[in-house]
Amino acid sequence: MAKLFLVSFLGLLIAAYGVAGNMLYDNFNILEELEDMDLAEEETDFFESPSWTSQHGGKVLVNVDSFDAAGDGVSDDTEAFRKAWDTACSTKKSVLLVPPGRRYLVNATKFKGPCADKLVVQIDGTIVAPDEPKNWDPNLPRLWLDFSKLQGVSFQGNGVIDGSGSKWWAASCKKNKSNPCRGAPTALTIDSSSSIKVKGLTIQNSQQMNFVISKSESVRVYDVKVSCPGDSPNTDGIHITKSTNVVLQDCKIGTGDDCISIVNGSSTIKMKRIYCGPGHGVSIGSLGEDNSTGIVTKVVLDTAFLKETTNGVRIKTWQGGSGYVRGVRFENVRMEDVSNPIIIDQFYCDSPKDCQNQTSAVEISQIMYRNISGTTKSKEAIKFACSDTVPCNNIVLSNVNLERKDGTVEAYCNSAQGFGYGIVHPSADCLSSHDKGTIPTNQKDNAEPAGDHIIHTEL
Ligand SMILES: *[C@@H]1O[C@H](CO)[C@@H](O)[C@H](O)[C@H]1NC(C)=O
Ligand SMILES: *[C@@H]1O[C@H](CO)[C@@H](O)[C@H](O)[C@H]1NC(C)=O
Ligand SMILES: *[C@@H]1O[C@H](CO)[C@@H](O)[C@H](O)[C@H]1NC(C)=O
Ligand SMILES: *[C@@H]1O[C@H](CO)[C@@H](O)[C@H](O)[C@H]1NC(C)=O
Ligand SMILES: *[C@@H]1O[C@H](CO)[C@@H](O)[C@H](O)[C@H]1NC(C)=O
Ligand SMILES: *[C@@H]1O[C@H](CO)[C@@H](O)[C@H](O)[C@H]1NC(C)=O
Repeated sequence: MAKLFLVSFLGLLIAAYGVAGNMLYDNFNILEELEDMDLAEEETDFFESPSWTSQHGGKVLVNVDSFDAAGDGVSDDTEAFRKAWDTACSTKKSVLLVPPGRRYLVNATKFKGPCADKLVVQIDGTIVAPDEPKNWDPNLPRLWLDFSKLQGVSFQGNGVIDGSGSKWWAASCKKNKSNPCRGAPTALTIDSSSSIKVKGLTIQNSQQMNFVISKSESVRVYDVKVSCPGDSPNTDGIHITKSTNVVLQDCKIGTGDDCISIVNGSSTIKMKRIYCGPGHGVSIGSLGEDNSTGIVTKVVLDTAFLKETTNGVRIKTWQGGSGYVRGVRFENVRMEDVSNPIIIDQFYCDSPKDCQNQTSAVEISQIMYRNISGTTKSKEAIKFACSDTVPCNNIVLSNVNLERKDGTVEAYCNSAQGFGYGIVHPSADCLSSHDKGTIPTNQKDNAEPAGDHIIHTEL
């Protein structure tokens, strides 16, 4: 029966209405659901918002320089930024301006809303963080520029947010095992907000994550660049947590960890025209660490180019978690020299200690890979390493073509159910079809020898 699925979509259609029973019909429904999963497109008014560098259009300009910011990259401009924020936030139609051509040194700061209507934050200059971890405000160990409780605010401009992260990276336990494992600040955070637009900004050299979208809804991110060295630890590009209805479009990300990571409590996330490299790819997860619940639904990545990344499109979960990842479509992706182009890793373990296999896991289902091509560095171009007790199900591959220089390329499956149609290279025959009866709930009998464990870390 498995062969039938690989023949063609047409075959599947015919089969769905003819020969076989419910199972094929189910598969057809899943395809339809995955195809229909279209998420909100961008609103166009955003592109029309002008660059506010002078007083016009009834806008009230609030320039940080008017609050005695020095903009020399050396003097402490934190106080000027706080005062400018207070003024801009409490004034209707205001534009908080960080003027071009200057560098503003700003400490960890919480910029809190709610604000008066239609605030624009126009960043054309550079905002730079103090570079010494020892002097960081101990009350804000994980934050640098933190914006919260905002509604209808636009962040825009050609400016740069620079975390000056090099000393933080050197102090990371990922860099030197004798360092304690401690979190570091996120350069830019948008938290507990709604209807937020971010356009044109560059975020670079963050202490840890570059840009976090947390507990927010209706967020549009366009033309944002993220740049960190490929060996900077845990510097995720854009990290989405507990957020819904987020669109990331035309973003160019090069960093030392995931270009984009989507974690617990997130749904309806669309990524369109994404460039990633260097980095660890586009990831859902990690989820389920320390037996936690992780839920991510409705994610679409449409049109991406990944170059020399350690993963392509990845779903990663820890053993022992619960919850689910459901309804994901990765499509129109081009890969060049990517190490794990297509990967589901339910044995994720980013910990100095070994992780034990457990019986519970975050369930992964309804995952579609369509029109994915390019070159792989690793032999296992397609890898579905799923939990023995909570198999991955309804994985669909269509028009996947991954090549390797020496020609040897293969798919690996553990406890993964699904099917392919159209071209699927390497062939995904290792996916089981669920008409074969139940998926073995315990494969311990033919487990790999001890020492050959599937353990995957970011190290
Ligand atoms: C910014 O941080 C430095 C170093 O910790 C500190 O000396 C300075 O007072 C801080 N500035 C403000 C305005 O809090
Ligand atoms: C790691 O840190 C220790 C203690 O700070 C230091 O002695 C050692 O030189 C560092 N190693 C590297 C490779 O930087
Ligand atoms: C994940 O989100 C769910 C509900 O959205 C919550 O119950 C759970 O505690 C969250 N898990 C973590 C690790 O925060
Ligand atoms: C997770 O659950 C397993 C099985 O109940 C238990 O052995 C383990 O200690 C738990 N881990 C944590 C971090 O709570
Ligand atoms: C397949 O994806 C590539 C890379 O994004 C894109 O250029 C191409 O147009 C896509 N093909 C189809 C048929 O959509
Ligand atoms: C966990 O399970 C996987 C899949 O059955 C197996 O390959 C791996 O060796 C196991 N790991 C440990 C630590 O037992």
